Amino acid sequence: MLQLHVLSVCHVLVLVLCLSAAEDFDWTKNHRGSFYYGTFPTGFSWGVGSSAYQTEGAWDKDGKGMSIWDVFTHKKGKVIYNETGDSSCEGYYKVKDDIALLKELKLNHYRFSISWPRIMPTGIKSDHVNEKGIKYYDDLINLLLENKITPIVTLYHWDLPQVLQERYGGWQNLSMINYFNDYANLCFERFGNRVKYWITFNNPWSIAVEGYETGEHAPGMKLRGSGPYKAAHYIIKAHAKVWHTYDNQWRSKQKGMVGISLNGDWGEPVDITSQKDIEAAERYIQFYLGWFATPIFNGDYPQVMKDYIGRKSAQQGLGTSRLPTFSSQEKSYIKGTCDFLGIGHFTTRYITQKNFPASHGPSYFTDRDLAELVDPRWPDPSSEWLYSVPWGFRRLLNFVKTQYGNPMIYVTENGVSEKMTCTELCDDWRMQYFKEYINEMLKAIKDGVNVKGYTAWSLLDKFEWDEGYSERFGLYYVDFRNKNKPRYPKASVQYYKRIISSNGFPSQKEAENWHRKAIETCSSSNQLLAAEQQRTTAANILRLIHDPLTSHMEMVTEIVVPTVCTLCILLSAIFLMFLLRRHN
Ligand code: NOJ
Repeated sequence: MLQLHVLSVCHVLVLVLCLSAAEDFDWTKNHRGSFYYGTFPTGFSWGVGSSAYQTEGAWDKDGKGMSIWDVFTHKKGKVIYNETGDSSCEGYYKVKDDIALLKELKLNHYRFSISWPRIMPTGIKSDHVNEKGIKYYDDLINLLLENKITPIVTLYHWDLPQVLQERYGGWQNLSMINYFNDYANLCFERFGNRVKYWITFNNPWSIAVEGYETGEHAPGMKLRGSGPYKAAHYIIKAHAKVWHTYDNQWRSKQKGMVGISLNGDWGEPVDITSQKDIEAAERYIQFYLGWFATPIFNGDYPQVMKDYIGRKSAQQGLGTSRLPTFSSQEKSYIKGTCDFLGIGHFTTRYITQKNFPASHGPSYFTDRDLAELVDPRWPDPSSEWLYSVPWGFRRLLNFVKTQYGNPMIYVTENGVSEKMTCTELCDDWRMQYFKEYINEMLKAIKDGVNVKGYTAWSLLDKFEWDEGYSERFGLYYVDFRNKNKPRYPKASVQYYKRIISSNGFPSQKEAENWHRKAIETCSSSNQLLAAEQQRTTAANILRLIHDPLTSHMEMVTEIVVPTVCTLCILLSAIFLMFLLRRHN
């Protein structure tokens, strides 16, 4: 209750904070609801994104090795409904179809990732290079270029080769740096004549925290308070090494760029008059984005991380900090290893100061001494963590500008999900989300932030890590129950397409028109999908008749359960009517 009250007060006071924090840009222009009509700079690049494990499927085909995600998802209890990415969207077999979707959107770029074990089955170059895997990415890149779509390629979107995990403990081991460098070098050698935008790591925060602290993601380790810092340390070094490899061996010939994609929520102080909350909000961002961006741009971890983790480690009786240190040589080797910065951003939190005694034991989360809150009025269409708070995006982009010397930015992920049960193609909330977030990015560009491109996340509904297929981020709906994994456009396809063709938001009238038209077309797609799903169900029933075992199980889920539910509802209604009559 108290928190809610604080949040309401906070709404009134946000503007005051904006004024006091104003240094480089005019926060007062950031009124809620003040939409900015205008266009993006000429040459601004529009794209969509995907990643290998989330979409490719073909997990054991054509000589691909296993990744930590293959192994993790095959263990029971790790992913909702024990779902896996074994076949996912079957993207491996649908390159042409998916490129047709990109063309339909008239995109400038497509962001995808290479599966390390698909091209190096054990992760080790001297063991084996899988030419079939190389061919798959060769064909994809060539087709993109033939269609004038620029590939932006991520080298590591979380699918570490399982052999490296088993033999060395994955990102807990220093040897990953050289293995990753060999892999990156092979990619530069084989694809670098055509790929000019390389992203070393996608969202290393998740790799470190969800992979090595909470264990919610592969490899599922719970090395609280130390594992994530160690993983991050080696990832940062691996990134820097790969940047130097490109710089020394390939840049002059290939003339491309190497960056990293960092995710970060915005953190807004709950009480903007409280210095403690202001500092806590800053800490939230430093422990998130700053953890990786500060070494890469400024040469070392954020001071506040060094102070907090160092102090807690000492209180816990440790001789050295759980946060590793960089030598001065390493600092200068790492500093400046970013030709462009990828930013993945989805949501915002209110932050307040909260002390966690060191006796709680080591943990990344308690190291920060803060609590995260959300405003219950923020739209929250699906993912538990994802609230739509567009103004946080502009603030985060301005933060990057001021903290890291106004680097060249590509937004590498931004989007919103919906729940599995919802087969609604008229995704009003997604259109709204894109409209407002893209508009905040436009305002940030007017503030002077150097954003060169935007990548909507994601092209397709796909495997959403520990959430399985229950959260759909796609512009295109994928019918996972159908073996062919057909794709259907949601209304947001039409809407995003208009933003792209107008390079922004020319006028209120036009933007409203786009919305109306998108809703009109999605109703017919909805009918198409419904008809297709009926056909799939009928086919399933026919199959059931031929297959008694699955027949029994699927009958239960597809026929018996809904029938029993309907009967229950009917009986309750009759019972209620009976009670009401007696009462009268
Ligand atoms: C960030 C991850 O990089 C991406 O793979 C995921 O789909 C989105 N977050 C949404 O959860």
